[in-house]
Amino acid sequence: MPTASASIRIIDTPEQMHSLSGEIRSSGRRLGLVPTMGALHEGHLSLMRLARAQCDVVAASIFVNPLQFGPNEDFDKYPRTFESDCHKLEAEKVSLLFAPTTEAMYPPGAKTFVEVGEISDRLDGRSRAGHFRGVATVVTKLFTIVQPDVAFFGQKDAAQVAIIQRLVRDLNLDVRIVVAPIVRESDGLAMSSRNAYLSPQERKQAPVLYRALMRVQKLADQGERNTAKLIASGKAVIAEEPGVRLDYFEIVDPQTLQGVSDLRSGALVAVAAYVGTTRLIDNVLLSGGGEVRTSLR
Ligand code: PAJ
Repeated sequence: MPTASASIRIIDTPEQMHSLSGEIRSSGRRLGLVPTMGALHEGHLSLMRLARAQCDVVAASIFVNPLQFGPNEDFDKYPRTFESDCHKLEAEKVSLLFAPTTEAMYPPGAKTFVEVGEISDRLDGRSRAGHFRGVATVVTKLFTIVQPDVAFFGQKDAAQVAIIQRLVRDLNLDVRIVVAPIVRESDGLAMSSRNAYLSPQERKQAPVLYRALMRVQKLADQGERNTAKLIASGKAVIAEEPGVRLDYFEIVDPQTLQGVSDLRSGALVAVAAYVGTTRLIDNVLLSGGGEVRTSLR
């Protein structure tokens, strides 16, 4: 497990983390939490920077949460790069890292789960049964253990953001949620730990998700308001790339994740597709005028 490292303090039990965060908060310092599953890239690091700018102390967490992976998903092969993650966090001056074991997070007999009704079955929740129950459960546990004033999440996982915001509201959790824009590679591909699975040829195909979103955004900018037509145009772009299999392409309300029939302010255009065997997701938020809120690096 975790080895000690020069300037980052690694904590691996919920009890230690809880008492440390109690000390931080009672000293009046503002504590920020950035939850991750590791294999850190620039998308994660952008969250660390935002947290540093807004908080006195930043805690990152690294925990590959078994509860959010389905039986046929990639839990076992999910990239685990703990040592290099620690170096990256140190370079970002993140002072605390909570990296618990699975047993510490889910002791034998743990049978309590957090379920955000309805929206957990939309978008990724429809094709990944139980995924958002796993996310909601682990995020609730992380909030309880770390007790952050503010927690930072990426717009990259737009459905996850909707679920966490609803969770915080419904359970009156005392934490502020900050959402950061998607960080992309220079060809538009949204950064993701799963990009590491792509073969060189698949890596060339993968930006088709972004191109499809940009096609929809352009048509919306030009005044197209019919979501069925917009979705069809996005799907057509995906279909141009052999070897890429669409999971969903939807235009939804970003809070409820329900489909919208007419473009409205803040509509979320979301796509998921398999590039080879790797499932990738991406999205853009359209304002009423079709303007996009996400940014290229
Ligand atoms: P993970 O996939 O490691 O992502 C951690 C955080 O980084 C999430 O909030 C995610 O949205 C954000 N992120 C990932 N790629 C990004 C990108 N290209 N630009 C901006 N932000 C990006 O999401 C999870 O882990 C887990 O579900 C977790 C919340 C930790 C619960 O287990």
